Amino acid sequence: MKGRHILLGVSGSVAACKAAELMTQLVRAGAEVVVIMTDGAQRFVTPVTFEALSRRPVITSLWKRTQFQEPAHVTLAEWTDLLVIAPATANVLGKLAHGLADDMLSCMALAVPRPPLIAPAMNVNMYNHPAVQDNIRLLKRRGCVFVGPVEGRLASGRVGLGRMADVKDIAKAVETALAPRRRAARR
Ligand SMILES: Cc1cc2nc3c(=O)[nH]c(=O)nc-3n(C[C@H](O)[C@H](O)[C@H](O)COP(=O)(O)O)c2cc1C
Repeated sequence: MKGRHILLGVSGSVAACKAAELMTQLVRAGAEVVVIMTDGAQRFVTPVTFEALSRRPVITSLWKRTQFQEPAHVTLAEWTDLLVIAPATANVLGKLAHGLADDMLSCMALAVPRPPLIAPAMNVNMYNHPAVQDNIRLLKRRGCVFVGPVEGRLASGRVGLGRMADVKDIAKAVETALAPRRRAARR
């Protein structure tokens, strides 16, 4: 992962607090990580947490100037090797599936040519809703890689499928996604 450029999109779930640990693991593995937080994510964790851990400014709005050459969604899309969205809300999955682009993360998801790696997190009923399941199927057909969700205790206290995958499993999936593809062995 050394030297690889990762955009980490964080959206509005209780699991947003785990994204800081994911970012730390990716940075320790040698990746350069830029974080984009949705408005929803900023209700759960502050950008300061990510800024302190990554020592880089965090992108919190489509409309605020960044340290990247503007327009940042175009410049950053060219810089990025992989967009990782963890946690991904039902809202983000819907926007990605339908090509909506009303904030920096959803614009970036359209601007980065490679399909993103997505770690959803949500309540079990939200996850099982046919609209969410249809969106996931559509995104998978387009080449998006999904990690989790897994069964476990959810923010509501209920146990069910919807918990974000373990950070180490997401980091492993990122490493696999960024590994150079091996050519099929010749016979
Ligand atoms: C306490 C609380 C926890 C939430 N957890 C989740 C969640 O885990 N997954 C999800 O899809 N939505 C969750 N939501 C709803 C999202 O925050 C909401 O849909 C928001 O508009 C998402 O915005 P974003 O996708 O732009 O971050 C939660 C809301 C609240 C108030």
